[in-house]
Amino acid sequence: MIVQSGGRVVIADLKANQALCAELGDAAIFSPADVTDTGQLQAAISSAVESFGGLHILISCAGIGDAGRVVGKDGPMPLDRFTRTIEVNLIGAFNALRLASATMTGNDPDEEGERGVIINTASVAAFEGQIGQAAYSASKGGIVSMTLPIARELARYGIRVMTIAPGLFDTPLLAGLPEPARASLGQSVPFPARLGRPAEFAQLARQIIENSMLNGSVIRLDGALRMAAK
Ligand SMILES: NC(=O)c1ccc[n+]([C@@H]2O[C@H](COP(=O)([O-])OP(=O)(O)OC[C@H]3O[C@@H](n4cnc5c(N)ncnc54)[C@H](O)[C@@H]3O)[C@@H](O)[C@H]2O)c1
Repeated sequence: MIVQSGGRVVIADLKANQALCAELGDAAIFSPADVTDTGQLQAAISSAVESFGGLHILISCAGIGDAGRVVGKDGPMPLDRFTRTIEVNLIGAFNALRLASATMTGNDPDEEGERGVIINTASVAAFEGQIGQAAYSASKGGIVSMTLPIARELARYGIRVMTIAPGLFDTPLLAGLPEPARASLGQSVPFPARLGRPAEFAQLARQIIENSMLNGSVIRLDGALRMAAK
């Protein structure tokens, strides 16, 4: 979406999506980065500044979805599983946000005083976590809760902070499920009764980038889905 709109992007992820990189050509750079590794994240940010002259938008999507009961068949959940989910989903998002926003403070402001836009990705599980989602819901709830205080803090630099909380989206995360399971998940959405499309996430990200009044809040993108307890 950003490249189609004339922008240039650095894609920071654990592994390169070769097909996507080939499709985007010179408008995109891949920078290998684990969000829990500050050096790798900083290198990704620096490559945006060095190759494209600056960083104005951060869209944070990295996430893992480990599910497990607090008390399972083998006893209490191993603490490192909870810690890992928080580390990647919440601390990783904060790590990207703190480094990116520090770079954005050096941008020349536009005519409205804006220097940058940060979009985090939470989940409806931040609000209606299912059984087994204690760690995932806590990590996404943390992203929801930090959105306003960070937006308030970064307002003085003209940097906006927003969070998208998706419902069920048709991404590689769900691609591993058999088709009947995917169809049944889609049917659980009131309207439209289907999985969300990545392009619809991009469409909202675009609106957030373009609409300066969107700041400090969380937008659910879920077709009125409210997840059941299990
Ligand atoms: N697909 C859905 O239905 C859905 C619903 C709600 C929220 N989300 C959230 O949307 C975001 C994107 O998920 P997706 O559905 O595209 O899943 P996905 O698995 O396709 O994408 C997640 C990406 O995060 C990357 N990643 C994982 N750990 C990382 C790390 N330590 N450092 C850097 N990158 C890392 C993965 O390599 C992958 O590219 C996630 O935060 C997820 O929790 C997805």
